Amino acid sequence: MLSWLAVLLALGALTGWAFYQTFVAPRHNPLQGIAGPPCKGFIGNLSRVLDPVCSSKAHEIYVKRYGRSIRIRGVGPWDERLLTLDPLSIQHVLKNSTIYEKPWQSRTLITSLIGCGMLSAEGHVHKRQRRVATPAFSIQNLRELIPLVFDKGNQLKNKWSTMISEGGTKPGDLSSTLDVCHWISRATFDVIGIAGFDYHFNAIHDESNELFLAYKEMFEVAISQGKPWRTTMSIYAPWINKILPDKRQRTIERCQGTIRRVAGRLIQEKKRKIQEAANNGKTYGGKDLLSLLLKSNASSDLAPESRISDQDILHNINTFMFAGSDTSSLSLTWTLYLLAQHPEIQTRLRNELLSVAPTTGISDLTEEEIQSLYGNLSSLPYLHNVTTESLRLIPPVHSSIRVATQDDEIPTMYPVHRRDGTVDEGKSVTVPKGSFVHVAVEGFNLDKEMWGEDAWEFKPDRWDALPEKAQELPGLFSNTLTFSAGPRSCIGLRFSLIEIKTFLYILLTHFVFIPTGEKINRVNVVLTRPFVSGKYKEGSQLPLIVKPYDPNAPLDEQTTSPVDM
Ligand code: HEM
Ligand SMILES: *[C@@H]1O[C@H](CO)[C@@H](O)[C@H](O)[C@H]1NC(C)=O
Ligand SMILES: *[C@@H]1O[C@H](CO)[C@@H](O)[C@H](O)[C@H]1NC(C)=O
Ligand SMILES: *[C@@H]1O[C@H](CO)[C@@H](O)[C@H](O)[C@H]1NC(C)=O
Ligand SMILES: *[C@@H]1O[C@H](CO)[C@@H](O)[C@H](O)[C@H]1NC(C)=O
Ligand SMILES: *[C@@H]1O[C@H](CO)[C@@H](O)[C@H](O)[C@H]1NC(C)=O
Repeated sequence: MLSWLAVLLALGALTGWAFYQTFVAPRHNPLQGIAGPPCKGFIGNLSRVLDPVCSSKAHEIYVKRYGRSIRIRGVGPWDERLLTLDPLSIQHVLKNSTIYEKPWQSRTLITSLIGCGMLSAEGHVHKRQRRVATPAFSIQNLRELIPLVFDKGNQLKNKWSTMISEGGTKPGDLSSTLDVCHWISRATFDVIGIAGFDYHFNAIHDESNELFLAYKEMFEVAISQGKPWRTTMSIYAPWINKILPDKRQRTIERCQGTIRRVAGRLIQEKKRKIQEAANNGKTYGGKDLLSLLLKSNASSDLAPESRISDQDILHNINTFMFAGSDTSSLSLTWTLYLLAQHPEIQTRLRNELLSVAPTTGISDLTEEEIQSLYGNLSSLPYLHNVTTESLRLIPPVHSSIRVATQDDEIPTMYPVHRRDGTVDEGKSVTVPKGSFVHVAVEGFNLDKEMWGEDAWEFKPDRWDALPEKAQELPGLFSNTLTFSAGPRSCIGLRFSLIEIKTFLYILLTHFVFIPTGEKINRVNVVLTRPFVSGKYKEGSQLPLIVKPYDPNAPLDEQTTSPVDM
């Protein structure tokens, strides 16, 4: 009874608020004065900006028509957003993380899934978590990661070799079509499990581990989107999930239960080990993120208000699982896809990789030799350029969003076009408190005016002679926004570069990748994922023909797609 009364009251309040927001407030919004695509309907052109199939084209058209500071409608007439493709503006927004926060709506959604970890916290809570976690990602600690990544890359290689030798369709035909997206994701899950909390999912081997299944299922539910109205309800009226839990909610709660139980036990075990070592006057040697977080929290030079709780630790481990597994596996998957599409680049990269390959197999190398090998790999110029180019061209995080927590003047480098057709040479845009700013990660990475006419093509050699305008772009990594920029940029950049370069080394020196001829589409579901055209029901996948690399085979036989012949 009471809850229905509450619903009625809430609806009444909502109607009044909606009326005010729809008809009164927008007239006073300074963003209304800026040029942007017409918005006839309830929802404007936002979906075009978010869809990787047409977003680069849409951005190009908008910049030509409306300049680099663009007004775009979000959801409903009260939601006018700033879509900026002005480098100075984006720098201001991303670096000024006290004024520009992540909107509470998206933070609520992430928090309901993985808890309030570094990805969704704001203000002093975020600062504290980031300070505790930063030492875990130091160059020294990441060195410890290298042998583990080599081991997992090698396991994946062995698995694929077995599958290919068992699965050849004709006798003597040594190739198989593999869903590289699926397999690489299992491998990166294994890596983050061990690196994150010293836990062995063994997902390359099989997919039966209960913690692995819990994470996997929870993240899949998160991206399979559910019903939009229900998601909206659960953001604005979270009590609905308590009163009327739907299937999605029940799945999430079941998974969270498993995670709390298994991971909670791991946290307690680790704490005990650290305490035990301390009692014996030693320091515990664990190098996983969980141990490092616990040790960082216990270190005496940390201010009392900077310390974090058990729950914070669990939420951050969840966050690393969420932010660090699919992102890395997708960037690797897309790189292999691009290399399959460009056999000449694949061959050139393979030759460079082979030039540093030791004669001994990876499993026979000592830890020192592995470190030395990685040192040699990380300074290979073409490997670096291919990796950077792939991360620029298909950034796994397609875009992000910020909200202004106070009225602000955003500085601009380019003139601002006004709705009435005049062009304002003044050097800023006024945004009122509460406005959303759309951060077009891919839009910046693919901007032809900055990167040149060939910006939409895969050209690793562009990094030899980058246009001056591109060299001035802000961004944590190589003038791209792939890892964002500023205080909220990716903490896992170096971590993922180790993964990407090592896996590319192992996979390309053992296999040749060939397109199957099926059309692959990019779809933005939380991250930019590959789908086979017409097979969306089958979920995200990227089939490639994988063939063992034979140094003696003639070149054209190695890389020609059977479909092209
Ligand atoms: C190719 C791989 C990766 C890409 C492209 C990537 C990209 C990003 C981006 C764009 C953000 C900012 C999100 C936003 O502002 O909305 C971010 C944040 C973050 N990433 Fe990554 N990431 C990658 C790998 C990783 C890995 C391996 C880890 C951890 C092991 C990680 C941990 C995080 C965390 C914790 C944050 C939140 C940082 C904060 O808000 O202070 N990422 N990442
Ligand atoms: C914007 O949306 C309108 C319809 O709402 C559509 O006609 C127009 O083509 C879109 N413009 C772009 C550039 O996507
Ligand atoms: C943050 O914004 C304020 C106010 O607009 C500005 O004065 C300051 O320079 C900005 N800081 C950075 C790092 O951009
Ligand atoms: C972090 O340190 C504080 C103070 O020593 C302690 O109370 C807290 O339990 C620690 N957090 C964890 C997760 O161990
Ligand atoms: C790395 O390169 C150095 C110098 O060329 C070489 O001496 C060393 O053996 C290489 N390491 C491995 C593991 O191949
Ligand atoms: C790769 O790019 C760097 C600049 O980042 C350049 O110095 C180098 O020559 C390039 N190497 C190759 C082989 O393309």
